[in-house]
Amino acid sequence: MSDQTRFTLNETDLPKFWYNVMADSPVTPAPVLRPDTLEPVTPDFLSVLFPMELIMQEVSTERYIEIPEEVREIYKLYRLTPLIRARRLEKALDTPAHIYYKNEGVSPAGSHKPNTAIPQAFYNKKAGTKALTTETGAGQWGSALAMACNFFGLDLEVYMVKVSYQQKPYRRIMMETYGSQVFASPTDLTNFGRSVLQQDPNSPGSLGIAISEAVEVAATSGGKKKYSLGSVLNHVLMHQSVIGEEALKQMDLANEYPDVVIGCVGGGSNFAGIAYPFLHENLKNGKRTRLLAVEPTATPSLTKGVYAFDYGDSAKMAPVVKMYTLGHGFIPPSIHAGGLRYHGMAPSLSAFYDAGLIEAVAVRQKPTFEAAVQFARTEGIIPAPESAHAIRTAMDEALDAKKKGEKRVILFNLSGHGHFDLGAYEAFLNGKLEDYEHPGEAIQAAMSDLPKVSVLA
Ligand SMILES: Cc1ncc(COP(=O)(O)O)c(C=O)c1O
Repeated sequence: MSDQTRFTLNETDLPKFWYNVMADSPVTPAPVLRPDTLEPVTPDFLSVLFPMELIMQEVSTERYIEIPEEVREIYKLYRLTPLIRARRLEKALDTPAHIYYKNEGVSPAGSHKPNTAIPQAFYNKKAGTKALTTETGAGQWGSALAMACNFFGLDLEVYMVKVSYQQKPYRRIMMETYGSQVFASPTDLTNFGRSVLQQDPNSPGSLGIAISEAVEVAATSGGKKKYSLGSVLNHVLMHQSVIGEEALKQMDLANEYPDVVIGCVGGGSNFAGIAYPFLHENLKNGKRTRLLAVEPTATPSLTKGVYAFDYGDSAKMAPVVKMYTLGHGFIPPSIHAGGLRYHGMAPSLSAFYDAGLIEAVAVRQKPTFEAAVQFARTEGIIPAPESAHAIRTAMDEALDAKKKGEKRVILFNLSGHGHFDLGAYEAFLNGKLEDYEHPGEAIQAAMSDLPKVSVLA
């Protein structure tokens, strides 16, 4: 049907396997290091924080890993997510480009995050874990894990970045409704939180600080609590591959194939989720889709950061990985896309960017919200500020196609809805949003505090 708008599949088409890009990676992954000795980590070290099945997925080079039936059953509450052709947006832009988006905002928690929260809670439950700890920025990840922990009968403590805790009280209430405990980070409950508050009692917090607090609580719990991370790690990105695996089939239904696939990047999971199955097609089946990661100018780890070994958190308790980083001590400006305020980037994505397999662009906050509002007024969906970065770039691609008189097939990931982000929209509508550029000189200062790694860098 030539005027079709929604491309939906049946429940029976729900993927049975996650795609693991590490099977096809043309780049050898750099080792993950212990933060204390800077020697490669062992499964024993990681097992303080994670259950063994997730550790095995983290290091796996198997191409496809079966999705457990218990996980698929919960995925069915919201998957397969629709692929939608943004015909009304195309018309408003008067572009020859075809714009498609995958709507992950239809999950009960409102974003792509349940795609990994559900399996992480499942594997922890199976391993006998009683409680999890985690951090959350915007609150999307915390809500997703809160929902998943509730489904599997696990307790959850969430360390929520203070600025988001203040900007988004309803996200906190959502997590509490699912039965979790939520703390504004930095807290006075951990050694690291207390040390941050001593230096700056008004610290707005950062994902790096919140991760340190959640890791500290799990690592000092005597095995009672494990830690769960919503992005960055290989297994997390792999769980998100259901997005791209579905999109491949749905683009087929639409009888088109994307010239460019776009996603916003915080730690990299929703972008990897939609892009890696298309990277597989590029690497193995001769396709040439451009894969474009979008970050805020306020936290431009790919476009302005340095590719180096760095700590995953501020307190230097999380493993050290080779990634594009702005430095683990970097506290990003309080932009509204809280989920994009992370100093680093997933190691696999960093390696692919370094190898020229993916591209990246940074966009400013105000043009991002202009795009979000235009999207809301044409397509009806109010996007999460994070996802609006992908929309901005999809629109820029469509306008560029118009300028060049080209038909271009654009696919982007709408990683979440913005129903809890209306404070940000209010600020935009009242002309109160500011643009932030990352101060280039901060990079030099941050680099002096990178770990001195001697292994094959
Ligand atoms: C809606 C939404 N999109 C994107 C992100 C960024 O994370 P990632 O790069 O792991 O997808 C977040 C993180 O909280 C988010 O909530």
